[in-house]
Amino acid sequence: MKEDLLQKVTALSKRRGIIYPNSEIYGGIAGFYDYGPVGVEMKNNLKRYWWKYMVDKRENVVGIDGTIITHPKVWEASGHLSGFSDVVVECKKCHQRFRPEDINGKCPNCGGTEFTDSRKYNLLFKTEVGVLEGEKIDAYLRGEACQNIYLDFKNVVDSTRQQIPFGIAQIGKAFRNEVTPNRFTFRTREFEQWDMQFFVHPTEMDKWFEYWKEERMKFYKGLYRKHDNLRFYEHPKDKLVFYAKKAFDIEYMTPWGWAENEGIHWRGDYDLTQHGKFSGKDLSYTDLKTNEKYIPHIVETSGGVDRTFLFLLLDSYEEEKLENGDMRVVLKINKDIAAYKAAVFPLVSNKEEIVSKARDIFNLLSENNKVVWDNRGNIGKRYRYQDEIGTPYCITIDYETLENDTVTVRDRDSMKQERVKIEDLNSAIN
Ligand code: GAP
Repeated sequence: MKEDLLQKVTALSKRRGIIYPNSEIYGGIAGFYDYGPVGVEMKNNLKRYWWKYMVDKRENVVGIDGTIITHPKVWEASGHLSGFSDVVVECKKCHQRFRPEDINGKCPNCGGTEFTDSRKYNLLFKTEVGVLEGEKIDAYLRGEACQNIYLDFKNVVDSTRQQIPFGIAQIGKAFRNEVTPNRFTFRTREFEQWDMQFFVHPTEMDKWFEYWKEERMKFYKGLYRKHDNLRFYEHPKDKLVFYAKKAFDIEYMTPWGWAENEGIHWRGDYDLTQHGKFSGKDLSYTDLKTNEKYIPHIVETSGGVDRTFLFLLLDSYEEEKLENGDMRVVLKINKDIAAYKAAVFPLVSNKEEIVSKARDIFNLLSENNKVVWDNRGNIGKRYRYQDEIGTPYCITIDYETLENDTVTVRDRDSMKQERVKIEDLNSAIN
């Protein structure tokens, strides 16, 4: 199963409205995907889950929501215009292009063993701002979401009560013209990142770096089921960018091996210094207690939302043999991320009292929960469908409900059913 897990998850995503290839009726476009009716609910829950963990529960992290297009100088200052590139080699036999780390001496497509020398391609997407000739300027879709945080640093200091150490968090789109988008939503050209930049005094970098490294691993352990599939990867010292003292990735074990999920980066004072230089503005910070003036140093945590989403699907996909010999596909996804908290089924759709009672329960639950209605087909089929999209509970309203105001609640993972009083339903599904 491990080998074809990615294909199974890709097929399930299409079949059940989780993720679709973008522009499919035109033949698709490599590296772009849409989230369907089920997927968008899951993705919103996933982003809320991160926001709760990183912002809501902390007194010293605030959020922003920045634009995708910024002043073009940003990308000069950040180094992306000159240095943000992908190194690619081409197979001489089938002419497919690969990243050198993906080939292992052999072409993954045709088995060829001869490759061209590596070439570099800049990954920034270019666009134009303005419509009149002579007034148009070249601009770029942001190649990483975090730049807005540096641009807004001074505004946040001046407009909030935060003092160093504190963090700024953001979830937002980033765009990279990847030469080799691949593995479903693992490497795409348009994706979302969840970033947090933590601003500290230079002497406190080590302490906060270690703190965030552990916090971020704790976050992923809370999210995924299979903790053995998580590890830290430490970047070798000789591969670090010049301003970094250390860098770690949190990796997830995918069917194609360990893969990066998130980076914890030592950015030092590089970003604020660069933007200070290129903008001519003073981005230093003055400590209110000591009057010390300095450029804050930064610990960054930067992960991919779509990539986490894909790893979650891989982490939760199961095929189980049932007692009657049938197979069921079940997504044992974290209950906080599942698209729906529960599905509501009237046992039959031709008995008005049952349907109407079921509607009342749907209305009651949907006050505080995202629930889904299904009255199509037999109950077994409805269970199979909800299992495939990971709905934690299925609630069936039947003849007994009319007698004693109880319903059956069926658990996704154990498949056990129990009768629950309608008044207790809210707590039973939360
Ligand atoms: N600001 C730092 C930064 O952008 P990165 O390691 O280039 O660091 C952070 O990106 C995360 O964004 C990665 O760990 C990965 O999860 C996600 N990511 C990067 N490129 C991606 C792509 N082409 N498709 C999907 N996710 C991507």
